[in-house]
Amino acid sequence: MTRRAVIVGAGGMGKAWGHNLAKHPDVEVAGWVDLDAARATEAVTEVGLVGIEVGTDLGRLLADTRPDFVVDVTVPEAHRDVTVQSLEAGCPILGEKPMALTMAHAKDMVAASERTGLLYMVSQSRRYNADMVVYRDLARQIGALGVLNVDFYLGPHFGGFRDEMASPLVADMAIHTFDQARFLSGRDAVSVYAEEFNPGWSWMAGDANATCLFEMEGGLRFTYRGSWVAEGCNTSWEGEWRACGSMGSAKWDGHQSFAAEVTDGDEGFFRPHRELPVPAHPDSFKSGIEGSLAEFLIALDGGPKPQGECHDNIQSLAMVCAAIESARRKERVLIAEMLA
Ligand SMILES: NC(=O)c1ccc[n+]([C@@H]2O[C@H](COP(=O)([O-])OP(=O)(O)OC[C@H]3O[C@@H](n4cnc5c(N)ncnc54)[C@H](O)[C@@H]3O)[C@@H](O)[C@H]2O)c1
Repeated sequence: MTRRAVIVGAGGMGKAWGHNLAKHPDVEVAGWVDLDAARATEAVTEVGLVGIEVGTDLGRLLADTRPDFVVDVTVPEAHRDVTVQSLEAGCPILGEKPMALTMAHAKDMVAASERTGLLYMVSQSRRYNADMVVYRDLARQIGALGVLNVDFYLGPHFGGFRDEMASPLVADMAIHTFDQARFLSGRDAVSVYAEEFNPGWSWMAGDANATCLFEMEGGLRFTYRGSWVAEGCNTSWEGEWRACGSMGSAKWDGHQSFAAEVTDGDEGFFRPHRELPVPAHPDSFKSGIEGSLAEFLIALDGGPKPQGECHDNIQSLAMVCAAIESARRKERVLIAEMLA
């Protein structure tokens, strides 16, 4: 069954979504909206779409094209309005991360999904990473998790909205990593103590560095150390991970190098260890936004609730908002306070 989509937002990621939707055999792009009409027209040409409606007014384009769903690839500040408007117009929506920049906006979006009974899913694309699934399967073999650490060090020179945001690293990027910690551990966050800061050499106006210590359900401690203005010795976009459990430890460099050891005997100052074999990669895996689109379409066909469904994804956003609030107040903040 072919489903018709409208894309909102025609920047760098909007074009990636244009290609993703255009190549899907069961999707037809019916329209593209951007506040900047020239951008939308350029994106339509670049993706090679013909005969689709282009405009700057989402309401009018939804009324004209009556799509089966909307894909929101606008800047984070616009996500709430685009999502609520699309749901109110009767369209399920697949939106880019972060869900929003504030909990108030996110709660409005969840309420709109409940009110209309329509699916709102966040495309948290780094969930769809076969190497991370391998690492999760490896970390499941080291016993009860007590420690999860990640280091994230990159120096991208984006320009655009990120250079002006108050918390570019935590709000725009760490949302992925915090969400990955929930995916890897299977646990939600309870509280966080965080510091955000901006080194003198930073080219971003807002704080581009952060250190966050989360308590997760069951007492697990998840530590995040990150910089978005780190030149040299970079990590991958997934970060570098270490997990410690009751039986051993598991590491992932964020690329394709994994290691895990568990105890192999209960004598000696340092106990003997044995290496665990690395689990196989999952078969026929769809990565990134191809994966989130596939889950979204299955859910529209009556399939299981997708990862990133708004009631779940708001838990990851609450980690972001609590970390920012903790850094501001210089005290530990409960996740429950964000969700209340
Ligand atoms: N999943 C990922 O890996 C990934 C990667 C990059 C960006 N993103 C996310 O995608 C989104 C877009 O990022 P980008 O890099 O393409 O940004 P961008 O600034 O390049 O493009 C955003 C576009 O949205 C348009 N826009 C803004 N408000 C609008 C509104 N109300 N209605 C219609 N159009 C509007 C702007 O004119 C612009 O063309 C962000 O939420 C970002 O965090 C995700």
